[in-house]
Amino acid sequence: MKIKRVFVTGAMGFIGFSWCKKLLENGYEVYAIDIKKNNKKLNNFKKFRYFKDSVFNYDLVRKLIKQTDLTCHFAGIASPKEYLINTNKVIDLTVNPSLVIINACSKYGKKLFFTSTSEIYGKSIELPFKEDGNRYLGSTSTRRWCYSTAKALVEHAIFAKLSVKKKNFIIYRLFNIYGHGLEGRVVDIFFERARKNRDLEIFGTGREKRCFLYIDDCIEIFFKILTKNKFDNQVLNIGNNKEETILSLAKKIIKISDSKSQIKIKSPRAKNKMKKQGFEDILRRIPSLVKLKKTLKYKPKTSLNEGLRLIYKEMQNNF
Ligand SMILES: NC(=O)c1ccc[n+]([C@@H]2O[C@H](COP(=O)([O-])OP(=O)(O)OC[C@H]3O[C@@H](n4cnc5c(N)ncnc54)[C@H](O)[C@@H]3O)[C@@H](O)[C@H]2O)c1
Repeated sequence: MKIKRVFVTGAMGFIGFSWCKKLLENGYEVYAIDIKKNNKKLNNFKKFRYFKDSVFNYDLVRKLIKQTDLTCHFAGIASPKEYLINTNKVIDLTVNPSLVIINACSKYGKKLFFTSTSEIYGKSIELPFKEDGNRYLGSTSTRRWCYSTAKALVEHAIFAKLSVKKKNFIIYRLFNIYGHGLEGRVVDIFFERARKNRDLEIFGTGREKRCFLYIDDCIEIFFKILTKNKFDNQVLNIGNNKEETILSLAKKIIKISDSKSQIKIKSPRAKNKMKKQGFEDILRRIPSLVKLKKTLKYKPKTSLNEGLRLIYKEMQNNF
């Protein structure tokens, strides 16, 4: 079936907004839902219909799934701080509406794109993380694992319910997508503090490594997959495999922002407090991109330095 009308949940979020824009620019009709108010930048598109509502409004969600060809279920909570302080909410929002969405996609025979996470692999040391690799998580009494576990449950439900037919779903495991509009993640937290010349606080040693993928590259990959009809009924890592230490990220952001901020490694006491609150860090996360590169022949275009500069430019335009 040719996809013409797309339903996006979490449409006013960092990734959801860019995805809606890309779809609209390419002539797709977009039905979008989010609890946030509509970003006016999308109002000029005639094929955009916005519902300021919650994915817990199951009647509306079912209706919109029925009326569209593809559901991109992006609504969620992806800020690590929330895993610790709002554990119930993270579990509830990640799992319950997703189960309703999976059932509705199954009932109406509609395709689903689901944004899962690199957190799925937990603290596995089988680097780089392959899509069929093992998961290695800490105790359930350590709150931070709630997000990984909740997303994994949804992945299980998708496989159980939707793999009965071909071309039914794609699960995207995203690895630190960053760009302007990100909220509550390391990149935007550092930029915000650098702008105010406040200390950039590092909770581990600074030697923890992450792989960052610029938002435009992520959206380009989504779009290629949509148009080429690849990876049906599969899980796919989406990220960059170039590692960066958190310390080096902090230094880059200070330099680009021309900031007077200092880098402060948190004291063992502060780290201990975080641990008691349910925090545990993951030292390295590298995606295996074999599947992605082999099938799409796509390489990320934006280097970390370029991406950070683009964020800084956008921040200046907005002040
Ligand atoms: N950005 C990343 O690096 C990353 C990494 C791994 C996974 N993800 C996943 O990708 C998806 C999008 O992430 P993001 O970075 O854009 O996060 P985001 O927080 O910017 O976007 C999530 C959106 O969901 C909306 N939302 C929350 N509760 C809702 C509700 N009840 N009903 C409708 N909308 C609701 C929020 O208002 C927000 O606009 C999430 O599912 C997240 O778990 C993102």
